[in-house]
Order: sequence, then structure tokens, then C-alpha cells
Amino acid sequence: MDFSSMSANEKQILIFSFYRDAELRGARLLFNLINHLKDGDSQLKMSAHLADETRHAWLWTKRIADLGGSPVMVDDGYQRRLGLRTGVPKTIVDLLALTVVVEERAQSRYNAHAALPNVDDETRDILAAVTKDESWHLSWIEKKMREIAKEQGCEEQADASLDRYRQIDREVYATLAADEAELMRS
Ligand SMILES: [Fe+2]
Ligand SMILES: [Fe+2]
Repeated sequence: MDFSSMSANEKQILIFSFYRDAELRGARLLFNLINHLKDGDSQLKMSAHLADETRHAWLWTKRIADLGGSPVMVDDGYQRRLGLRTGVPKTIVDLLALTVVVEERAQSRYNAHAALPNVDDETRDILAAVTKDESWHLSWIEKKMREIAKEQGCEEQADASLDRYRQIDREVYATLAADEAELMRS
């Protein structure tokens, strides 16, 4: 992509639109999970988790609006590219493993952004808020995945599934990293 004709403001709006898209698609993964994990503890956690992801999408949307813009629809973002490569998860353990990998990526994207020197206060506040939630998401989903894998006697499959998704994630993210770095250089 060529971003050279974009203003600093437009670049910001585009990067926040990428984040917004990833949050909304992350929420959709949770919607898929909510029909599968029927125990009370999971239902409680998934409801809180889903509320977080939709709030995160709103925080980025509001930041875009505060910059005077509107969200850019992302047809070819991280999770779309990822989904094309992974296919639809066939088991609950696969679905949880995919969620773990997506949460790890969200966390590392936000940490990388927060480490940049030129981040304004409003954006920094949102990054801090969402990163805190992502840590909790990652920890409970991974724990639940291991618990279910143990019950089903498929712990090795859970590890294999995590490895496979992490590998695909790295390859997919590499196709986006250059564009994101360019956008953040504003
Ligand atoms: Fe999130
Ligand atoms: Fe999350």
C-alpha cells in the first residue's frame, strides 16, 4: 500500500480502524464460543470478555471520531487473512487455541504501539486500558483450553494446534507488519 499521500491524521484513523476491525472480529470469535462452553463459570467469563471486546471496538471508534474521522472498513485485515489460512476450527480446543493466538497478537500489537515515542495521551490511555483487559483474556482462555484438553485426553493436540496457529499468525502478520510500521511512522 502507498500511504505517502495521507496526512498524519488519516494514517492514525487507518491504524485505529485496523484495531477496531480486529476487536470486532475478536468479539465474533467469542460469540462462536459462547454456544459451546455451557458451564456457569465459562458463561460468566465469556460474557465479561465479550463486553470487553465490544468496548475496545468502541474505544477505537470513538478515538477515530474524536480525530474528526469515521471508521475505515477493513476487508483484508489481520483476522480475515488469518481465517483464510486457518480454516474454521473443528473442535472446541481448536477454537480456544485460535482465540489464544489472536489475543497474543492483540497484546503484542498494542505493546509495540505503546513503546513508540510519539504516542499522544488519548491514544496512550486507550492502549493502557485495552492491554490490561487483553492480559486477562489471554490467561483465562489458555487455562480453559488446557482444562478441556486434559478432560478430553488431547493435551498434545492442544499444543500442536497452538503451534500451528502461531506459525500461521507469524506468517500472516508479516504481510501486514510493513504497512503498520509505515503508518505509525507519522
Ligand atoms: Fe480487545
Ligand atoms: Fe481480547
